[in-house]
Amino acid sequence: MNTKPAAQQPTPQPTPQTTSQPTPPSVAVIGLGNLGRALAAAFLDHGHRTTVWNRSPAKADDLVARGANRAATAAEAIAAADLVIVCVLDYDNVREVLTPAADALRGRTLINVTSGTPEPARELADWATAQGAEYLDGAVYAVPQTIGTPDAFVLYSGSSAVFETYRPQLDLLGAPTFVGTDPGLASLYDVALLSGMYGMFAGFFQSVAVADSARIKATDITSLLVPWLNGAAAALPGFAAEIDSGDYTTETSNLDINTVGLANILTATKAQGIGVDLLAPLQTLFERQLAQGHGSKSLSRAIESLRTRH
Ligand SMILES: NC(=O)c1ccc[n+]([C@@H]2O[C@H](COP(=O)([O-])OP(=O)(O)OC[C@H]3O[C@@H](n4cnc5c(N)ncnc54)[C@H](OP(=O)(O)O)[C@@H]3O)[C@@H](O)[C@H]2O)c1
Repeated sequence: MNTKPAAQQPTPQPTPQTTSQPTPPSVAVIGLGNLGRALAAAFLDHGHRTTVWNRSPAKADDLVARGANRAATAAEAIAAADLVIVCVLDYDNVREVLTPAADALRGRTLINVTSGTPEPARELADWATAQGAEYLDGAVYAVPQTIGTPDAFVLYSGSSAVFETYRPQLDLLGAPTFVGTDPGLASLYDVALLSGMYGMFAGFFQSVAVADSARIKATDITSLLVPWLNGAAAALPGFAAEIDSGDYTTETSNLDINTVGLANILTATKAQGIGVDLLAPLQTLFERQLAQGHGSKSLSRAIESLRTRH
């Protein structure tokens, strides 16, 4: 990989070093939405020469006032930096922004933290590599306000050499974890983790709807729901171990008892005049396991109803 400073540097030139500290790599941040601005600020705060570009130029103003260099085009930003971070809305936008700047990518390192899905990430990695760039894909678990704090973490996949070389810069954004050389893996983890989050939201909506049908305030039920869910989450590592081992033997929470319990919940919910759209599919998964004779097995065996291969 190329870790040499960029050959072409737009204004201003790097600040001469007054100590023997090595010069930190120059960084470009392309895409200055809420997250991109926080990323650029983190690099600026830690003394990196930072060049910024955004489709709507005004979003760069605050960063420029804090010392960032404003690039007139994405290509100019790329040419100014060793490390190029891209953070726009989706992968189509990434392509839109980078395609006209393709020539500038040769010899650069590209880290794309735009949210996406595995296949577009792999395609982007192939395209960037064909332009002569090193590629790392990232999935950010933070809100802009927590970038650079212990609450932020970022998963990366793609070039392990990029991850190792730029680890000090990645540390500035949030705890970095490398999940594999397949560039699609960070997105795959993202899909998995966000699936868990949306499943939790589904439970929340169902819970609040039931409470609401009896005029219980959402805030009141939620004050009980949050500690209840935190306690329930403690069961997940045990379920995960069962799934990994394929041993679903249990003496505690089996599928028979959970299927009866969930059926009661669905019946009571309908009696309250509330839809069961969010929970009914789970009952279907349980029943499929029962039909295959696995009622005495652990609740965690419900995952086998989702598997379409293995
Ligand atoms: N915000 C978060 O908490 C968070 C957390 C994790 C991951 N992410 C991910 O990070 C990415 C950026 O999120 P954000 O919160 O910064 O979004 P945002 O505030 O809505 O900013 C979107 C950015 O994308 C740019 N953009 C959109 N369409 C474009 C196009 N066709 N060409 C060029 N630029 C375009 C926008 O430019 P303009 O300013 O010109 O519109 C802006 O810079 C998303 O993929 C998001 O899922 C965000």
